[in-house]
Amino acid sequence: MALERTLSIIKPDATRRNLTGKVNTVFEEAGLRIVAQKRIQLTEKQAGAFYEVHKERPFFGELVSFMCSAPVVVQVLEGENAVAHHREVMGATNPAEAAEGTVRKLYAQSIGENSVHGSDSLENAKREISFFFAETEILP
Ligand code: TYD
Repeated sequence: MALERTLSIIKPDATRRNLTGKVNTVFEEAGLRIVAQKRIQLTEKQAGAFYEVHKERPFFGELVSFMCSAPVVVQVLEGENAVAHHREVMGATNPAEAAEGTVRKLYAQSIGENSVHGSDSLENAKREISFFFAETEILP
């Protein structure tokens, strides 16, 4: 196994309900280390660029406006196999299908308002981390 970094976002439905600490506790108890973190307000331009891969999908407009509807917490998580491990801990995209104990099972409200984002590959993690963080802001 390799030490990896992944990009995580605590989404507006969770920041609005004051769940940042509870989500972070799930990550930390799973062995993921928060090595960078900031609370920011995304612009539509930023959210659209971040989710560019989904721009032809029917839910793109709603996704972008949801991501800008309240502050988000962007973070870099580090750990063994962090990309896949974080996605396991987040749970399935649709909370109705998420496993017990996962963030989405515990806290997500719907497939769209599903509390957390996580990079889906090591390559995307690198792109997504550099979208929000300079290397000097990441402190293992
Ligand atoms: P996706 O990359 O498929 O899921 P994940 O976040 O689990 O990697 O989709 C990105 C986000 O788009 C997802 O978290 C919520 C939103 N979305 C919808 O609103 N409706 C949908 O039907 C899907 C598939 C995603």
